[in-house]
Amino acid sequence: MVTINKNYLKLPGSYLFSTIAKKVADYQAAHPEEKIVRLGIGDVTQPLAPAIIDALHKAVDEMAHAETFHGYAPDLGYEFLRSAIAKNDYQDRGCRIEADEIFVSDGAKSDSGNIQEIFGTDNKVAVCDPVYPVYVDTNVMAGRTGEYNKERENFDGVIYMPCLEENGFLPELPKETPDLIYLCFPNNPSGAAITKEKLQEWVDYANKTGAVIIYDAAYEAYITEEGVPHSIYECEGARTCAIELRSFSKNAGFTGVRLGFAVVPKELEREGVSLHSLWARRHGTKFNGAPYIVQRAGEAVYSPEGKAQLKEQVAYYMRNAHYIYNGLKDAGYSVSGGVNAPYIWLKTPKGMTSWEFFDYLLETAHVVGTPGSGFGAHGEGYFRLTAFGTFENTQEAIRRIQAL
Ligand SMILES: Cc1ncc(COP(=O)(O)O)c(C=O)c1O
Repeated sequence: MVTINKNYLKLPGSYLFSTIAKKVADYQAAHPEEKIVRLGIGDVTQPLAPAIIDALHKAVDEMAHAETFHGYAPDLGYEFLRSAIAKNDYQDRGCRIEADEIFVSDGAKSDSGNIQEIFGTDNKVAVCDPVYPVYVDTNVMAGRTGEYNKERENFDGVIYMPCLEENGFLPELPKETPDLIYLCFPNNPSGAAITKEKLQEWVDYANKTGAVIIYDAAYEAYITEEGVPHSIYECEGARTCAIELRSFSKNAGFTGVRLGFAVVPKELEREGVSLHSLWARRHGTKFNGAPYIVQRAGEAVYSPEGKAQLKEQVAYYMRNAHYIYNGLKDAGYSVSGGVNAPYIWLKTPKGMTSWEFFDYLLETAHVVGTPGSGFGAHGEGYFRLTAFGTFENTQEAIRRIQAL
Protein backbone atom coordinates (compact mmCIF):
# COMPACT_ATOMS: atom_id res chain seq x y z
CA MET A 1 0.00 0.00 0.00
CA VAL A 2 1.17 3.50 -0.75
CA THR A 3 2.30 5.47 2.25
CA ILE A 4 2.56 9.23 2.38
CA ASN A 5 5.30 11.54 3.55
CA LYS A 6 4.09 11.89 7.13
CA ASN A 7 6.36 14.83 7.73
CA TYR A 8 3.72 16.91 5.96
CA LEU A 9 1.30 16.08 8.75
CA LYS A 10 3.54 17.91 11.21
CA LEU A 11 2.73 21.22 9.51
CA PRO A 12 -0.03 23.03 11.39
CA GLY A 13 -2.83 24.75 9.50
CA SER A 14 -2.48 26.31 6.10
CA TYR A 15 0.14 28.58 4.65
CA LEU A 16 -0.05 31.97 6.41
CA PHE A 17 -1.15 33.93 3.37
CA SER A 18 -3.92 31.46 2.53
CA THR A 19 -5.36 32.03 6.01
CA ILE A 20 -5.19 35.79 5.56
CA ALA A 21 -6.76 35.61 2.09
CA LYS A 22 -9.66 33.57 3.46
CA LYS A 23 -10.28 35.99 6.36
CA VAL A 24 -10.21 38.97 3.99
CA ALA A 25 -12.48 37.25 1.45
CA ASP A 26 -14.99 36.37 4.21
CA TYR A 27 -14.93 39.94 5.51
CA GLN A 28 -15.35 41.42 2.04
CA ALA A 29 -18.26 39.06 1.29
CA ALA A 30 -19.99 40.17 4.49
CA HIS A 31 -19.21 43.88 3.84
CA PRO A 32 -19.17 44.35 0.06
CA GLU A 33 -19.38 48.14 0.43
CA GLU A 34 -16.04 48.49 2.26
CA LYS A 35 -12.92 49.34 0.25
CA ILE A 36 -10.19 47.19 1.75
CA VAL A 37 -6.59 48.39 1.49
CA ARG A 38 -4.15 45.48 1.28
CA LEU A 39 -0.71 45.97 2.75
CA GLY A 40 -0.39 42.32 3.75
CA ILE A 41 1.30 40.00 1.26
CA GLY A 42 4.60 41.29 -0.10
CA ASP A 43 3.45 41.53 -3.71
CA VAL A 44 4.39 44.43 -5.94
CA THR A 45 1.82 46.70 -7.61
CA GLN A 46 3.78 48.77 -10.14
CA PRO A 47 3.87 47.61 -13.79
CA LEU A 48 7.04 46.22 -15.30
CA ALA A 49 9.51 48.93 -16.33
CA PRO A 50 9.57 49.89 -20.05
CA ALA A 51 13.05 48.43 -20.61
CA ILE A 52 11.78 45.07 -19.38
CA ILE A 53 8.62 45.21 -21.45
CA ASP A 54 10.73 45.98 -24.54
CA ALA A 55 12.99 43.01 -23.84
CA LEU A 56 9.97 40.75 -23.36
CA HIS A 57 8.39 41.90 -26.66
CA LYS A 58 11.65 41.40 -28.51
CA ALA A 59 12.11 37.91 -27.08
CA VAL A 60 8.51 36.96 -27.92
CA ASP A 61 9.10 38.06 -31.53
CA GLU A 62 12.24 35.91 -31.67
CA MET A 63 10.12 32.92 -30.71
CA ALA A 64 7.99 33.49 -33.83
CA HIS A 65 10.79 32.62 -36.26
CA ALA A 66 12.57 29.31 -36.73
CA GLU A 67 16.00 31.02 -36.91
CA THR A 68 15.62 32.77 -33.57
CA PHE A 69 13.28 30.36 -31.78
CA HIS A 70 14.49 28.99 -28.42
CA GLY A 71 13.45 25.65 -26.96
CA TYR A 72 14.66 24.27 -23.63
CA ALA A 73 16.90 26.74 -21.88
CA PRO A 74 20.21 25.50 -20.43
CA ASP A 75 19.40 24.03 -16.96
CA LEU A 76 21.67 26.44 -15.19
CA GLY A 77 20.65 29.54 -17.13
CA TYR A 78 21.68 31.36 -20.31
CA GLU A 79 25.23 32.63 -20.36
CA PHE A 80 24.06 36.19 -21.23
CA LEU A 81 22.10 36.40 -17.97
CA ARG A 82 24.61 34.62 -15.76
CA SER A 83 27.38 36.95 -17.01
CA ALA A 84 25.21 40.05 -16.46
CA ILE A 85 24.46 38.92 -12.90
CA ALA A 86 28.08 38.04 -12.10
CA LYS A 87 29.30 41.39 -13.38
CA ASN A 88 26.63 43.74 -12.05
CA ASP A 89 25.61 42.14 -8.77
CA TYR A 90 29.02 40.86 -7.74
CA GLN A 91 32.17 41.85 -9.62
CA ASP A 92 31.21 45.55 -9.79
CA ARG A 93 30.75 45.41 -6.00
CA GLY A 94 34.15 43.84 -5.51
CA CYS A 95 32.85 40.30 -4.91
CA ARG A 96 34.68 37.43 -6.58
CA ILE A 97 31.79 35.51 -8.16
CA GLU A 98 31.99 33.98 -11.64
CA ALA A 99 29.14 33.42 -14.10
CA ASP A 100 29.43 29.64 -13.69
CA GLU A 101 28.71 29.98 -9.98
CA ILE A 102 25.24 31.43 -10.74
CA PHE A 103 22.27 29.05 -11.07
CA VAL A 104 19.27 30.76 -12.67
CA SER A 105 15.89 29.66 -11.33
CA ASP A 106 12.22 30.63 -11.30
CA GLY A 107 12.56 32.52 -8.03
CA ALA A 108 13.87 32.56 -4.50
CA LYS A 109 10.89 30.73 -3.03
CA SER A 110 11.79 27.62 -5.02
CA ASP A 111 15.48 27.97 -4.29
CA SER A 112 15.03 28.64 -0.58
CA GLY A 113 12.70 25.64 -0.38
CA ASN A 114 14.77 23.30 -2.54
CA ILE A 115 18.30 24.04 -1.38
CA GLN A 116 17.92 21.86 1.72
CA GLU A 117 17.73 18.79 -0.53
CA ILE A 118 21.49 18.68 -1.03
CA PHE A 119 22.07 18.37 2.73
CA GLY A 120 21.63 15.31 4.91
CA THR A 121 18.40 14.96 6.85
CA ASP A 122 20.44 14.71 10.06
CA ASN A 123 21.57 18.34 9.79
CA LYS A 124 20.46 20.73 12.51
CA VAL A 125 18.78 23.84 11.17
CA ALA A 126 18.92 27.32 12.71
CA VAL A 127 16.50 30.07 11.71
CA CYS A 128 15.67 33.55 12.89
CA ASP A 129 12.40 33.89 14.76
CA PRO A 130 10.31 35.50 13.24
CA VAL A 131 11.22 34.08 9.85
CA TYR A 132 10.08 33.72 6.21
CA PRO A 133 8.08 30.49 6.71
CA VAL A 134 9.45 28.61 3.69
CA TYR A 135 12.81 27.80 5.33
CA VAL A 136 11.22 25.97 8.25
CA ASP A 137 8.31 24.35 6.42
CA THR A 138 10.51 22.80 3.73
CA ASN A 139 12.84 21.37 6.37
CA VAL A 140 9.79 19.94 8.14
CA MET A 141 8.65 18.32 4.88
CA ALA A 142 12.10 16.81 4.45
CA GLY A 143 12.06 15.30 7.94
CA ARG A 144 14.81 17.48 9.35
CA THR A 145 12.73 18.50 12.39
CA GLY A 146 10.73 16.94 15.18
CA GLU A 147 7.04 17.44 15.82
CA TYR A 148 5.24 20.76 16.10
CA ASN A 149 5.26 21.86 19.73
CA LYS A 150 1.88 23.45 20.42
CA GLU A 151 3.01 25.08 23.65
CA ARG A 152 6.07 26.78 22.17
CA GLU A 153 4.34 27.18 18.80
CA ASN A 154 7.34 25.95 16.89
CA PHE A 155 9.08 22.72 15.88
CA ASP A 156 11.16 20.47 18.06
CA GLY A 157 14.68 19.99 16.80
CA VAL A 158 15.04 23.42 15.19
CA ILE A 159 17.26 26.13 16.62
CA TYR A 160 15.22 29.32 16.76
CA MET A 161 17.15 32.56 17.14
CA PRO A 162 14.84 35.23 18.59
CA CYS A 163 15.02 38.58 16.80
CA LEU A 164 13.43 41.12 19.08
CA GLU A 165 13.53 44.80 19.87
CA GLU A 166 16.12 44.08 22.60
CA ASN A 167 18.67 42.76 20.09
CA GLY A 168 17.82 45.17 17.27
CA PHE A 169 15.94 42.33 15.51
CA LEU A 170 19.26 40.62 14.77
CA PRO A 171 19.99 36.98 15.65
CA GLU A 172 22.68 36.13 18.19
CA LEU A 173 25.10 33.25 17.71
CA PRO A 174 23.21 30.22 19.06
CA LYS A 175 24.32 28.23 22.10
CA GLU A 176 23.78 24.95 20.30
CA THR A 177 25.87 24.63 17.12
CA PRO A 178 23.75 24.38 13.95
CA ASP A 179 24.72 22.83 10.61
CA LEU A 180 22.51 24.89 8.32
CA ILE A 181 21.89 28.54 9.14
CA TYR A 182 19.25 30.51 7.26
CA LEU A 183 19.78 34.26 7.28
CA CYS A 184 17.74 36.82 5.37
CA PHE A 185 18.86 40.45 5.16
CA PRO A 186 17.34 42.93 4.64
CA ASN A 187 14.86 40.92 6.61
CA ASN A 188 11.39 39.76 5.85
CA PRO A 189 9.35 40.27 8.03
CA SER A 190 11.11 42.69 10.40
CA GLY A 191 12.69 44.97 7.81
CA ALA A 192 15.94 44.87 9.83
CA ALA A 193 19.29 45.15 8.06
CA ILE A 194 22.64 43.71 9.15
CA THR A 195 25.94 45.58 9.01
CA LYS A 196 28.94 44.11 7.25
CA GLU A 197 30.76 43.71 10.59
CA LYS A 198 27.87 41.74 12.11
CA LEU A 199 27.51 39.55 9.02
CA GLN A 200 31.27 38.92 9.09
CA GLU A 201 30.81 37.44 12.59
CA TRP A 202 28.37 34.90 11.10
CA VAL A 203 30.73 34.06 8.26
CA ASP A 204 33.60 33.56 10.71
CA TYR A 205 31.36 31.44 12.94
CA ALA A 206 30.26 29.25 10.01
CA ASN A 207 33.82 28.77 8.82
CA LYS A 208 34.90 27.87 12.37
CA THR A 209 32.09 25.39 13.01
CA GLY A 210 31.69 23.99 9.48
CA ALA A 211 28.12 25.24 9.21
CA VAL A 212 26.68 26.45 5.89
CA ILE A 213 24.80 29.75 5.68
CA ILE A 214 21.87 30.02 3.28
CA TYR A 215 21.78 33.77 2.75
CA ASP A 216 18.55 35.11 1.28
CA ALA A 217 19.17 38.56 -0.18
CA ALA A 218 15.81 38.94 -1.95
CA TYR A 219 15.51 42.56 -0.69
CA GLU A 220 19.03 43.70 -1.48
CA ALA A 221 17.79 46.45 -3.84
CA TYR A 222 16.13 48.27 -0.92
CA ILE A 223 19.35 48.94 0.96
CA THR A 224 19.84 52.69 1.37
CA GLU A 225 22.48 52.89 4.10
CA GLU A 226 26.24 52.65 3.80
CA GLY A 227 27.83 49.76 5.67
CA VAL A 228 24.95 47.39 4.91
CA PRO A 229 26.22 44.59 2.67
CA HIS A 230 24.37 43.86 -0.57
CA SER A 231 25.84 40.36 -0.70
CA ILE A 232 27.31 37.97 1.85
CA TYR A 233 30.29 37.65 -0.48
CA GLU A 234 31.33 41.14 0.60
CA CYS A 235 32.48 39.34 3.77
CA GLU A 236 35.85 37.67 3.85
CA GLY A 237 35.66 33.88 3.80
CA ALA A 238 32.04 33.68 2.61
CA ARG A 239 33.03 31.61 -0.42
CA THR A 240 33.77 28.66 1.84
CA CYS A 241 30.58 28.77 3.91
CA ALA A 242 27.71 30.54 2.13
CA ILE A 243 25.12 30.06 -0.57
CA GLU A 244 23.31 33.24 -1.61
CA LEU A 245 19.78 33.42 -2.98
CA ARG A 246 18.44 36.31 -5.00
CA SER A 247 15.16 37.18 -6.64
CA PHE A 248 14.01 39.51 -9.42
CA SER A 249 10.61 39.81 -7.73
CA LYS A 250 11.16 42.84 -5.58
CA ASN A 251 13.93 44.74 -7.38
CA ALA A 252 12.24 44.47 -10.78
CA GLY A 253 8.60 43.53 -10.16
CA PHE A 254 8.94 39.95 -11.42
CA THR A 255 6.56 38.36 -8.89
CA GLY A 256 4.33 37.24 -11.76
CA VAL A 257 7.14 36.82 -14.29
CA ARG A 258 9.30 34.53 -12.10
CA LEU A 259 13.08 34.71 -12.05
CA GLY A 260 15.75 34.31 -9.40
CA PHE A 261 19.12 32.71 -8.87
CA ALA A 262 21.33 30.94 -6.38
CA VAL A 263 25.06 31.50 -6.04
CA VAL A 264 27.11 28.48 -5.00
CA PRO A 265 30.86 29.18 -4.97
CA LYS A 266 33.11 26.46 -6.31
CA GLU A 267 35.22 26.39 -3.12
CA LEU A 268 32.22 25.48 -0.98
CA GLU A 269 32.64 21.85 0.09
CA ARG A 270 31.42 19.65 2.89
CA GLU A 271 32.54 16.07 3.56
CA GLY A 272 34.97 16.59 0.69
CA VAL A 273 32.12 17.09 -1.79
CA SER A 274 31.50 20.26 -3.79
CA LEU A 275 28.10 21.77 -3.02
CA HIS A 276 28.32 23.49 -6.42
CA SER A 277 28.35 20.10 -8.14
CA LEU A 278 25.52 18.79 -5.95
CA TRP A 279 23.32 21.80 -6.71
CA ALA A 280 24.20 21.54 -10.42
CA ARG A 281 23.14 17.89 -10.32
CA ARG A 282 19.91 18.67 -8.53
CA HIS A 283 19.09 21.61 -10.80
CA GLY A 284 19.91 19.59 -13.95
CA THR A 285 17.70 16.72 -12.88
CA LYS A 286 14.70 18.58 -11.47
CA PHE A 287 14.60 21.91 -13.28
CA ASN A 288 14.29 22.55 -17.00
CA GLY A 289 15.41 26.16 -16.97
CA ALA A 290 13.67 29.51 -16.63
CA PRO A 291 12.00 30.59 -19.91
CA TYR A 292 14.17 32.27 -22.56
CA ILE A 293 11.76 35.21 -22.72
CA VAL A 294 12.02 35.75 -18.97
CA GLN A 295 15.79 35.47 -18.94
CA ARG A 296 15.99 38.15 -21.65
CA ALA A 297 13.76 40.30 -19.43
CA GLY A 298 16.17 39.60 -16.58
CA GLU A 299 19.08 40.71 -18.73
CA ALA A 300 17.28 44.04 -19.32
CA VAL A 301 17.32 44.65 -15.55
CA TYR A 302 21.06 45.27 -15.96
CA SER A 303 20.85 47.56 -19.01
CA PRO A 304 21.48 51.28 -18.38
CA GLU A 305 17.76 52.08 -19.02
CA GLY A 306 16.62 49.13 -16.92
CA LYS A 307 18.83 50.19 -14.02
CA ALA A 308 17.58 53.78 -14.12
CA GLN A 309 13.91 52.79 -14.35
CA LEU A 310 14.18 50.24 -11.55
CA LYS A 311 15.96 52.68 -9.29
CA GLU A 312 12.86 54.85 -9.64
CA GLN A 313 10.54 51.91 -8.98
CA VAL A 314 12.36 50.96 -5.80
CA ALA A 315 12.32 54.63 -4.75
CA TYR A 316 8.54 54.67 -5.29
CA TYR A 317 8.10 51.82 -2.83
CA MET A 318 10.57 53.30 -0.39
CA ARG A 319 8.56 56.53 -0.37
CA ASN A 320 5.66 54.36 0.81
CA ALA A 321 7.91 52.79 3.43
CA HIS A 322 8.86 56.20 4.83
CA TYR A 323 5.24 57.32 4.71
CA ILE A 324 4.09 54.28 6.71
CA TYR A 325 7.01 54.51 9.14
CA ASN A 326 6.51 58.21 9.88
CA GLY A 327 2.72 58.00 9.86
CA LEU A 328 2.67 55.22 12.42
CA LYS A 329 5.32 56.90 14.57
CA ASP A 330 3.24 60.08 14.61
CA ALA A 331 0.24 58.00 15.66
CA GLY A 332 2.24 56.71 18.64
CA TYR A 333 3.16 53.25 17.39
CA SER A 334 6.51 51.63 18.08
CA VAL A 335 7.91 50.98 14.61
CA SER A 336 11.05 49.61 12.97
CA GLY A 337 12.21 48.55 9.50
CA GLY A 338 11.40 50.60 6.42
CA VAL A 339 14.90 52.09 6.01
CA ASN A 340 16.71 49.33 4.09
CA ALA A 341 13.64 47.20 3.42
CA PRO A 342 10.10 47.54 2.09
CA TYR A 343 8.65 46.18 5.35
CA ILE A 344 7.51 48.06 8.42
CA TRP A 345 7.38 46.09 11.64
CA LEU A 346 5.24 47.51 14.40
CA LYS A 347 4.40 46.53 17.92
CA THR A 348 0.71 45.80 18.36
CA PRO A 349 -0.92 48.37 20.65
CA LYS A 350 -2.65 47.77 23.99
CA GLY A 351 -1.24 44.28 24.43
CA MET A 352 -3.26 42.87 21.53
CA THR A 353 -2.03 39.63 19.99
CA SER A 354 -0.95 39.80 16.37
CA TRP A 355 -4.17 38.16 15.15
CA GLU A 356 -6.33 40.35 17.41
CA PHE A 357 -4.70 43.40 15.83
CA PHE A 358 -5.19 41.89 12.36
CA ASP A 359 -8.94 41.53 13.00
CA TYR A 360 -9.16 44.96 14.62
CA LEU A 361 -7.44 46.63 11.68
CA LEU A 362 -9.51 44.73 9.12
CA GLU A 363 -12.80 45.47 10.86
CA THR A 364 -12.24 49.09 11.89
CA ALA A 365 -9.81 50.53 9.31
CA HIS A 366 -10.39 47.94 6.56
CA VAL A 367 -6.64 47.62 6.21
CA VAL A 368 -4.93 44.26 5.77
CA GLY A 369 -1.50 43.58 7.23
CA THR A 370 0.28 40.43 8.31
CA PRO A 371 0.24 39.16 11.90
CA GLY A 372 3.78 38.81 13.23
CA SER A 373 2.98 35.51 14.91
CA GLY A 374 2.48 34.01 11.44
CA PHE A 375 6.25 34.29 11.03
CA GLY A 376 7.10 32.52 14.28
CA ALA A 377 6.48 32.50 18.02
CA HIS A 378 8.70 35.55 18.59
CA GLY A 379 6.69 37.51 16.05
CA GLU A 380 3.77 37.50 18.50
CA GLY A 381 2.86 41.04 19.49
CA TYR A 382 4.18 42.41 16.20
CA PHE A 383 2.58 43.22 12.86
CA ARG A 384 3.97 43.72 9.35
CA LEU A 385 2.88 46.29 6.79
CA THR A 386 4.36 46.31 3.31
CA ALA A 387 5.43 49.25 1.20
CA PHE A 388 4.40 47.51 -2.02
CA GLY A 389 0.98 49.17 -2.36
CA THR A 390 0.29 52.18 -4.51
CA PHE A 391 1.16 55.52 -2.91
CA GLU A 392 -2.55 56.47 -2.86
CA ASN A 393 -3.54 53.28 -1.05
CA THR A 394 -0.65 53.65 1.35
CA GLN A 395 -1.73 57.19 2.21
CA GLU A 396 -5.31 56.01 2.64
CA ALA A 397 -4.27 53.15 4.94
CA ILE A 398 -2.23 55.44 7.16
CA ARG A 399 -4.99 58.04 7.27
CA ARG A 400 -7.42 55.35 8.45
CA ILE A 401 -4.99 53.93 11.04
CA GLN A 402 -4.29 57.43 12.38
CA ALA A 403 -8.02 58.03 12.73
CA LEU A 404 -8.56 54.95 14.94
C1 LIG B 1 12.69 36.43 2.18
C2 LIG B 1 12.06 36.02 0.91
N1 LIG B 1 12.66 35.13 0.14
C3 LIG B 1 12.11 34.72 -1.00
C4 LIG B 1 10.91 35.21 -1.43
C5 LIG B 1 10.29 34.71 -2.69
O1 LIG B 1 10.82 35.30 -3.80
P1 LIG B 1 10.40 34.86 -5.27
O2 LIG B 1 9.25 35.70 -5.69
O3 LIG B 1 11.65 35.09 -6.07
O4 LIG B 1 10.06 33.40 -5.24
C6 LIG B 1 10.24 36.15 -0.68
C7 LIG B 1 8.93 36.66 -1.12
O5 LIG B 1 8.20 37.32 -0.50
C8 LIG B 1 10.83 36.56 0.53
O6 LIG B 1 10.22 37.43 1.32
